[in-house]
Formats: sequence, structure tokens, C-alpha cells
Amino acid sequence: MKVIAVFATTVNGTIALSADDRVDWTSREDKIYFKELTMKIGTVIMGRKTHEAIGRPLPERLNIVWTRNPDAYRKTERENLRFLSSDPVSLLEQLKKEGISQVCLIGGAETFAAFASKSLVDELHLTYEPILCSGSMNLGSYLSGCLGLKLIELVRLRKATVMIYEVEK
Ligand SMILES: NC(=O)c1ccc[n+]([C@@H]2O[C@H](COP(=O)([O-])OP(=O)(O)OC[C@H]3O[C@@H](n4cnc5c(N)ncnc54)[C@H](OP(=O)(O)O)[C@@H]3O)[C@@H](O)[C@H]2O)c1
Repeated sequence: MKVIAVFATTVNGTIALSADDRVDWTSREDKIYFKELTMKIGTVIMGRKTHEAIGRPLPERLNIVWTRNPDAYRKTERENLRFLSSDPVSLLEQLKKEGISQVCLIGGAETFAAFASKSLVDELHLTYEPILCSGSMNLGSYLSGCLGLKLIELVRLRKATVMIYEVEK
């Protein structure tokens, strides 16, 4: 199973400007990049808080929302929206059994750390938006220790830059 993490950051490393940030500070080009990548991969995994910040399932993609309390959300489930509570390894195994071989992990920091700390994240596509903002959440907020990255590609958008990293395991 290939796991591709996809995030946007301000130049000073902030990924959420507030607790319920809808990440509307990213550029149009990054939104297109995000949409094209996640549509190509077909499945997105996100934490419950990110799902609530987005406010709806992403269309034409299978949305897997990670929560400790999936039963509370059963009524809102639909064909492309599922709530799962399994640990990261079991969750990916379950999806693999369903024939899924690649997923995008689209946030937030807590969910990223849980998967990365089990060495389950293969790639990180990190868009640097050329802005400086307040906000204390960053991609390492929930990590214990450090994660090694190797830059494998750089994609220049009109204003922003996407750094594609391989995650060292
Ligand atoms: N800049 C970007 O690219 C970007 C991307 C994504 C998100 N964000 C922002 O990041 C913020 C949210 O990030 P976050 O780190 O606070 O939260 P998050 O990772 O989106 O979601 C955290 C939730 O994941 C669930 N979870 C955590 N551990 C679990 C476990 N062991 N088993 C099952 N479920 C588990 C819990 O849901 P329950 O509480 O329901 O149990 C937890 O509250 C939002 O403001 C969002 O806009 C930014």
C-alpha cells in the first residue's frame, strides 16, 4: 500500500491558522494540484477534525475518516464516505483487501503523526504557500522526534512550490 501525504504549509510552517481552519489560504493552483492528485489516487484518509473542517466528503473520491467513535457518524455515511477506527496498520490492510493499493493521507497533523510514526507514509507532497501567518499547528506538532525526508521532486506552481519528499523509514 502506497501512502502519499498531501499538505500545504505557510513559509513559517503553519498548516492551520485556527482550530477550524478550512485551509482557504492556499492558492488556486495548489487546489488544482490537490484535486488532480487525490482524484488520480482515488482514496483519501483524514482525521475526523479535518473532515469537519472540510465540511463535506470530497466528491469522486472514497473518503475514509479516522475517528475513535465511528458509530456516532454512521448516519452520515454514504457511498464515498466511511468512518473507521482501526489502528493505522489494520486500516490500511482492510483497504488493501478491498483492492485499494494507493491512498492520499490529507491530514491533519495528528493523523499524519499516527501513520508516520508507524512508518506507513511513503511520500509527502508539501506545498509551500508564499505567506507568513500566525497559528501554532505544524506538520510535526504530534510527532515524537524527527522524520527524515529526501527531496525527490520540486514542482513550481504559479506562486507556490510543491516539494515532493520520500519519507525515510
Ligand atoms: N494545511 C493543510 O494541508 C491541512 C491539511 C489537513 C488539515 N489541516 C488542518 O488541521 C486541522 C486538523 O488537524 P488535527 O491534527 O487537529 O486533527 P485530525 O488529524 O484531522 O483529526 C484528529 C482526529 O483523528 C481521530 N483519531 C486520532 N487518533 C485516533 C486513533 N488512534 N484511532 C481512531 N481515530 C483517531 C480523532 O477523532 P475523534 O475525536 O472523532 O475520535 C481525532 O480527534 C484543521 O484545522 C485542518 O483544517 C490542514
